[in-house]
Amino acid sequence: MLTLFPQWFAWFGEQRHVANALAGGSELTCVDMRAHTPLSGGQVDDTPFGGGAGMVLRVDVVDAALRGHYGVEPEELRARRRVAVLAPGGRLLDEQLVTELAAEPALTLLCGRYEGFDERILDHYASDVISIGRYVLSGGELAAMVVCDAVLRKLPGTLGHEESALQESFSAALEGEPEYPHYTRPAEFRGWRVPDVLLSGHHEEIERWRREQSRVRGARVRERGSAHGRGAG
Ligand code: ADE
Repeated sequence: MLTLFPQWFAWFGEQRHVANALAGGSELTCVDMRAHTPLSGGQVDDTPFGGGAGMVLRVDVVDAALRGHYGVEPEELRARRRVAVLAPGGRLLDEQLVTELAAEPALTLLCGRYEGFDERILDHYASDVISIGRYVLSGGELAAMVVCDAVLRKLPGTLGHEESALQESFSAALEGEPEYPHYTRPAEFRGWRVPDVLLSGHHEEIERWRREQSRVRGARVRERGSAHGRGAG
């Protein structure tokens, strides 16, 4: 993880499922790009050529951070491991991309700030550009945490109860559909009853009902953009 705000990740690393993954052998290393800058005064960004608002992360700063941390020619790094830049215009993060990333032995995430990256960073150092949604965050750090969270929970031992990951939303077990609805006690609350089938003890019928609910939700997402009754309407 290359960032200008490594302290953001201290909290993240303490969260239970992340801490489990780290105890299980996964590593999360934060590289402070400012500590590697060749420029004076800790400078990492600059005004855009051609004018315009905001500041742009400099290519020489990213080069120095990659070179300093990995000890290799930065352009060659992406041939050895995926180097993903977090940016709003990138490939949208979805279950397929998360599964792909979770299968990688190692991953480098590059978080930008300010207006964005000098395009040469994307052209020469990145293997991927990843977006967590079509909206602009003030930096890539939260997006990188989203990527790490989704990837780490795919790794064995992270969740503590493996079956919950098997049948979760968008899994192969649910044929890529969203998860079915869950209910717990009380069976009735303010007149809102849990569906009878779930109280029936008929495992096959329960399974059939769940699959059907999953499919209905999936169809709703495709039609209206949300698995739930409210929202995109
Ligand atoms: N950096 C700023 N906005 C972002 C987004 N939506 N996804 C990933 N990285 C970002």
